Amino acid sequence: MIGGISSGQAALKVDNLHVSFGNARRGSLIRAVDGVSFSVRKGEIFGVIGESGSGKSTLGRCLVGLLSPSDGGVLHGDIDPFKFSRREMNRHRRKYQIVSQDPNAAFDPRMTILQSVCEPLNIAGEGTRAERREKAFAMLDRVSLSPEMANRYPHEISGGQKQRANIARALMLDPTVIVCDEVVAALDVSIQADMLNLFSRLQEQLGLTYVFISHDLRVVSHISDRVAVMYFGKIVEVGPAHAVMETPLHPYTEALRSAEPEITPAANDAKQRIILQGEIPSALSPPSGCRFHTRCPRVRDMCRTEEPKQRELLPGRHVACHFAEEMLAQSEGRGAGHAGRGTADRGASGTEALT
Ligand SMILES: Nc1ncnc2c1ncn2[C@@H]1O[C@H](COP(=O)(O)OP(=O)(O)OP(=O)(O)O)[C@@H](O)[C@H]1O
Ligand SMILES: [Mg+2]
Repeated sequence: MIGGISSGQAALKVDNLHVSFGNARRGSLIRAVDGVSFSVRKGEIFGVIGESGSGKSTLGRCLVGLLSPSDGGVLHGDIDPFKFSRREMNRHRRKYQIVSQDPNAAFDPRMTILQSVCEPLNIAGEGTRAERREKAFAMLDRVSLSPEMANRYPHEISGGQKQRANIARALMLDPTVIVCDEVVAALDVSIQADMLNLFSRLQEQLGLTYVFISHDLRVVSHISDRVAVMYFGKIVEVGPAHAVMETPLHPYTEALRSAEPEITPAANDAKQRIILQGEIPSALSPPSGCRFHTRCPRVRDMCRTEEPKQRELLPGRHVACHFAEEMLAQSEGRGAGHAGRGTADRGASGTEALT
């Protein structure tokens, strides 16, 4: 059992995962993902948040089998996909899709939207031409694109419509798990909420499991059941989304949270912001001890030398900070009282409050 999830319930199990690039002898080794463990339940939306370069996309690509672990592993249910032959992997991977920020990458400018959406089934050699087209129209309908869009070329539709078509394309192979990597980052704020609602609706209708990656705390917290906060290849905090947002127990999460704009100007003015000091460290030479110590407003001597262990402070809330207990006591002293009392369920408000 990892993270309180038994194997039958888990869509993904990540155990001490490492993914590195480059070469240690040439001094070019980058540990993009450096010892990460968590499980994702079937039907769960698991958010991953962190700054640029923290290893989110590398993690996401490894989760769907596009990158191999350097150490540790990823299980799809009880299956180790990295033991498959290339052919078996290709067949298996259709159930584990990734949708990325840039839908342009998924569309050949010389192909119509319908042709592009049909393409995954063409490659898989599945169904007759008529069956593939019928399924493509059904998927376009699922993502609320009218049939007339099908015969347009990518430059003839908007960015939001292109991202919807991109999702329809991913759905053609009937996936069970979708890694959504910054799927709304390139879109106007005004249509981000619509797109998140679409993701929520599809998840409910099709019983999908999502790993929802974003650098935007609002996006992740509105759609996710649980969130993991990544800093420099490591998860520093995991817990139910609303509890992590309400009462962060890691100084990095606290800083991310404090940078978020509030809904009203008065609340914005009253808000105490934590400005992170210090340089963002180089990926080639991560800081000793706690990796966040060079920028942490709560840094103390031991943080510079000893790496904090991740521990469960409250049911379902895992934190890797030497002084997390202190932060918990402070939050309880403030009477916040939300530091993990909640369940992992999404609130009834869904995604409407995003903008
Ligand atoms: N193919 C690669 N070869 C070498 N280094 C890589 C490769 N892919 C990623 N990296 C490095 O790994 C680290 C993590 O990158 P990654 O793209 O996973 O971060 P990210 O959290 O997704 O960032 P962003 O928010 O900017 O998308 C970075 O230092 C990056 O330069
Ligand atoms: Mg990325």
